[in-house]
Amino acid sequence: IKLKLTGLRRFVRTEAEIADYTAQVAAAQDTLVSGTGAGNDFLGWLNLPVDYDRDEFARIKQAAKKIQQICDVLIVIGIGGSYLGARAAIEFVNGQFYNQVRPEGIPEVYFAGNNISSSYLNDIIKMIGDRDFCINIISKSGTTTEPAIAFRELKKLCESKYGKEGARERIFATTDKERGALKKLADDEGYETFIVPDDIGGRFSVLTPVGLLPMAAAGLDIDAVMAGAAASREEYSHGSLHDCARYAALRNLLLFKGKSMEIMVNYEPSLVMLGEWLKQLFDESEGKDHKGLFVTSANFSTDLHSIGQFIQDGSRIMFETVLWVKEPRSEITIEHTEEDIDGLNYLAGQTVQHVNQKAYEGTLIAHMDGGTPNIILEIDRTDAWHFGYLVYFFEKACGISGYLLGVNPFNQPGVEDYKKNMFALLGRSGFEERRKYLEARVKL
Ligand code: PA5
Repeated sequence: IKLKLTGLRRFVRTEAEIADYTAQVAAAQDTLVSGTGAGNDFLGWLNLPVDYDRDEFARIKQAAKKIQQICDVLIVIGIGGSYLGARAAIEFVNGQFYNQVRPEGIPEVYFAGNNISSSYLNDIIKMIGDRDFCINIISKSGTTTEPAIAFRELKKLCESKYGKEGARERIFATTDKERGALKKLADDEGYETFIVPDDIGGRFSVLTPVGLLPMAAAGLDIDAVMAGAAASREEYSHGSLHDCARYAALRNLLLFKGKSMEIMVNYEPSLVMLGEWLKQLFDESEGKDHKGLFVTSANFSTDLHSIGQFIQDGSRIMFETVLWVKEPRSEITIEHTEEDIDGLNYLAGQTVQHVNQKAYEGTLIAHMDGGTPNIILEIDRTDAWHFGYLVYFFEKACGISGYLLGVNPFNQPGVEDYKKNMFALLGRSGFEERRKYLEARVKL
């Protein structure tokens, strides 16, 4: 990743302001690396790229091979941190049409249990049809409602199609090593299980079996993913003002200047889901104690035709972090036509990536002129190695940034409130008082 500051010059005295901030950035990084800060029991991801269970890694590859051999469709059930990383990886490397353009021997991969829609779940079941399928159920806690509902339905389908014995061969569970309902169920049923380490929270679990099994089943090179992450760890282990720390510092400097929203911008549709994971990573890590940047994502040039208006000209509350990919997965050259009805002949001989690049450069200057600062992160290409590299870069930046902000980046107390209300309204036992109180208030 190359961090470029060209889009910030008018907004931050970049080097000078970062220099003034150096001591705090160094302290935040020390807190993270020495494990002395809040949430320090969730730092297992810091050394994961070089310190992971090699036996389990080999088992992931074997399970992926088995999935590829016995099924046409793999359904990955999970939500939040147990969903977004794997999908982001598969789309990053193989594009949004990965199911249609996959090589021979690779199953289609779909994601379920990331919403509470009966229509979506019925569509998944319809889409599987008569085809052979496997399930990877992922839940660290083993008690999350969305995946539990989806699993109940798909397990039933699997057992009715293959019998209990057959289903056992086709269901893979990724969960806590000893706690939770899913662990108990997996043990009782005899499913092959993979472990979400205790010291790694959901949004930091991409490089554990949570992300690696679906990636491997989809044909991604998980050795390359881990090698990329290891290179990133090495790169950002030295000194206190490397690009990862500078990115964390710049986000906070911009927040101090009243830019309370960060838009993660891409110019490649294959990064859409990476944007979704980034939203989770940063918003769940930093949005607490009434603090934090609100991180969202935008897909350009698509969204230049919609929210681009606001970014250019609306409330001046945001900055952009642009993820620019230098080499597309494949290229198209625009050809000359006799009629030139669309007036594109002036681009004949140019690549579509060239046009994309000019859109990026033009947008960057327009948005800066409109008062929106830009942090630029350039990536060479979207392969498995770069995915691993990016994941580690952002995880570490998030840890440093959270400590700079003064929050515990590794908990998420705020996500419990809606769950308690939902359980109470559903009539779950133990929530009787809350139910009475809510029912008096909710008259939909
Ligand atoms: O980052 C997180 O902790 C959350 O997004 C969780 O990953 C999500 O709630 C799913 O939790 P679980 O894996 O326990 O089902």
